[in-house]
Amino acid sequence: MDMTLGHGYDTFLLAPNVKHIYAFDIQEDAIESAKTLNASHDNITYILDNFKHFKTYIASCDLAIFNLGYLPKGDKTITTLKEDTLYTLHKLIEENIAKHIVIMSYLGHEEGYVEYLEIKNYIQHVTHYHVIISHVSHDPKAPVMFWIYKK
Ligand SMILES: C[S@@+](CC[C@H](N)C(=O)[O-])C[C@H]1O[C@@H](n2cnc3c(N)ncnc32)[C@H](O)[C@@H]1O
Repeated sequence: MDMTLGHGYDTFLLAPNVKHIYAFDIQEDAIESAKTLNASHDNITYILDNFKHFKTYIASCDLAIFNLGYLPKGDKTITTLKEDTLYTLHKLIEENIAKHIVIMSYLGHEEGYVEYLEIKNYIQHVTHYHVIISHVSHDPKAPVMFWIYKK
């Protein structure tokens, strides 16, 4: 699952390497942009919905990726919200739905920083998944990657 499709660059890289991708976004413009980029791929289901409703569409998956924040060159007020992200992450992990979860978290804006802190705090209490957190040295505002995978 690509939880935050955006312009579809992540999906574009994933599509040739996986069987099928379910790709979510709450913005129609993003989905249209991603469809154009991914016109050569026929293994993508586009879903115009909040990722927190993912269970309506899929019961389990190998990988769920989140590229948090707002659509580059889009409306900066439409951004991922910590409540939705934490709710969804909790479901994916507590119900063992995803084998792997990769999250790119952006610290440069206030909502993003709080979202990052809440993810970090929550996963410290998860015991049935391994967690790898990558930080870029010398740049405290650089994006942080969480790789969370089933033990
Ligand atoms: C940083 S962009 C994603 C970039 C994208 N993965 C790419 O490769 O171009 C974040 C996207 O998440 C979408 N988004 C925000 N909240 C969402 C939610 N609750 N459910 C689904 N998509 C959401 C935004 O509309 C935006 O397009």
